[in-house]
Amino acid sequence: MKYTLAFDVYGTLINTSGIFNSLEKMTGNKAKSVMDTWRNKQLEYSFRRGLMNKFVDFSVCTKDALEFSCKTFKVNLSDAQKEELLNEYKVLPAFADVNNGLHTLKKDGHKIYAFSNGSVHAVSNLLINAQLMHLFDGVVSVEDVKVFKPSPLVYEHFNKKTNSTKETSWLISGNPFDIIGAASYGLKTAWLKRSSETIFDPWDIKPTTIINTITQLPINLK
Ligand code: LAC
Repeated sequence: MKYTLAFDVYGTLINTSGIFNSLEKMTGNKAKSVMDTWRNKQLEYSFRRGLMNKFVDFSVCTKDALEFSCKTFKVNLSDAQKEELLNEYKVLPAFADVNNGLHTLKKDGHKIYAFSNGSVHAVSNLLINAQLMHLFDGVVSVEDVKVFKPSPLVYEHFNKKTNSTKETSWLISGNPFDIIGAASYGLKTAWLKRSSETIFDPWDIKPTTIINTITQLPINLK
């Protein structure tokens, strides 16, 4: 069976912890806390904006969340430093397994898409910078439907945009909330458990399969 594969971007293909070194230079031993709160708030802001029907570019959630995190941990960054961090966010590195994993999937004849809260522009630039763009059949963004993951509308949009069906498509994500959203809509799902510490929300919804690297995906597609 040839599938249409939707790869989440931040936390799945692209490592948001790539910002750590710069944060450490600017905030010292607060770097890990600032980074984690920044990421969690970024997602919370996207959820809230989705519920409020107040869509903005995902980069606004990222910017506002950085501000919140700095205030929380009382770190005084200059505007130039914040801009430096936000610029670095546009060129975050890919995880090491992405290239090989996607190569095999492409060779096997599956269709490969990046599917993100981020705009087509931002995601394309990340993939170009990481020299991965040639492996993709396309980039699908929630910006077309002006609501964020995990609204069912975004997963439905993915199917429409890629001419795929629930039965023939998979969502691959490192983010449990994304997996639960996609599974609830009806897609097949592979949770990419990037860290042994990540906890899958103990709801009544489970991923179709669990993998630790993208290179494990081919044999798990069923
Ligand atoms: C994305 C966020 C959820 O790329 O990581 O859609």
